[in-house]
Amino acid sequence: MMLHIPQVLTKDQVARLRAVIDAADWIDGNATSGSQSRMAKANLQLPEASQAARDAGAAILDALEKSPLFVAAGLPLKVFPPLFNRYGPGQTFGDHVDNSIRVASDGMRIRSDLSATLFLTEPEDYDGGELVVDDTYGVHEVKLPAGDLILYPASSLHRVEPITRGARISSFFWIQSLVRQDAQRALLFDMDVAIQRLAGQVGANDPSLVALTGTYHNLLRMWAEV
Ligand code: NI
Repeated sequence: MMLHIPQVLTKDQVARLRAVIDAADWIDGNATSGSQSRMAKANLQLPEASQAARDAGAAILDALEKSPLFVAAGLPLKVFPPLFNRYGPGQTFGDHVDNSIRVASDGMRIRSDLSATLFLTEPEDYDGGELVVDDTYGVHEVKLPAGDLILYPASSLHRVEPITRGARISSFFWIQSLVRQDAQRALLFDMDVAIQRLAGQVGANDPSLVALTGTYHNLLRMWAEV
């Protein structure tokens, strides 16, 4: 399942975050690549353990916790400390699948079930740079307003198209979900959305809604790995 989560950060939050990371020193993006993807990748990244990356990353983690859509769709168990990349003219990241296990600089180890890109540049400020994701339902091109996030299965083949004008600055990270299988997570999310919608119509204490909510939790109990 791919999901667009609008306005994870407000424009003000984006501006503040950009001020922190734009002033920092960037390094060759291959610092975080597996050996296979190293060949396909040309970009810059903030050093993972730098103060700028930590401060900006903490602000993003805080915003994610406050996003009901992110929590409902991702069912996050662990979120990798957010990383930051910058693609300038001619830079790109060719087709690849993200590594299955990621280890953060603080030793945190996660299984990457979901990949996330949080856009930090307005689409009109650069040409190219679309995130192209290949999943079972076809090829999707993604280019979102600054502050918006795309969630997609980390198992899918994806790339970043070459930049032809300007620069594309984003945050990216991975999520280990309580529910490992994408299909199970997607079903729970659909059910959650329907429950929330029904609650608005019939009230939270409606017996049928209470039963449906119970079923949601029993499915989650069956599938969750904590
Ligand atoms: Ni990737």
